[in-house]
Amino acid sequence: MDTMSSRPFHVTFVCSGNICRSPMGHVILDQLIDAAGMSEQVVVSSSGTGDWHVGEQADSRTIEVLAQHGYDGTRHRAREFDPTEFDDLDLVLASDQGHVRTLQQLAGSEDNLAKIRLVREFDENAVTAGTLETNDPWYGDHEHFARCYDTVEAACHGIFDHLRTTLRPSPSPSPSAGEANVAADPTNRPVDGAAEGTRSTPDPDSESH
Ligand code: 4NP
Repeated sequence: MDTMSSRPFHVTFVCSGNICRSPMGHVILDQLIDAAGMSEQVVVSSSGTGDWHVGEQADSRTIEVLAQHGYDGTRHRAREFDPTEFDDLDLVLASDQGHVRTLQQLAGSEDNLAKIRLVREFDENAVTAGTLETNDPWYGDHEHFARCYDTVEAACHGIFDHLRTTLRPSPSPSPSAGEANVAADPTNRPVDGAAEGTRSTPDPDSESH
């Protein structure tokens, strides 16, 4: 990957249905990026490895828990992950190891494989505890969604800090003001102690959920 990109850095969250976990990350990180005035440097998106909910709003419990924390999740519409977009992505954040394996099978190149990380690798407490997967709250109740929110929010602060320290503003005004100047590639700078298992050889027998 080039390190002096002229386009925004593209971060995407991936879960199974794109109605619970990945929309939370999408909405929270988008808001952090926006509040920091980095919207022209970073694009945030999300999708699911399955197509069951394509076009639907986020789960009502996702919208509810986001609203309880001051976020508007009502504009989200579920998408299925599109492998043809892989080359244009910079950081692909999987919710659990099943998604990692699915994404590894779709990556198609070493460059794309190196973009895949688990969301919680960016939460140093999760790294220390070794709890790197984001559990699926879909079959649970409000408590599961509240816990899911807490885990995703903690990771989003880590992801945001990582992006802020890695994507530096241009040292001088440029004709393409607002475009990202990627000073270093976050996907090549793993969080201390992060599991290396996310870069293992793709498992052809794995399932996405
Ligand atoms: P998500 O949760 O992957 O966090 O959006 C799920 C939503 C729907 C299904 C599975 C997980 N589903 O099987 O329909």
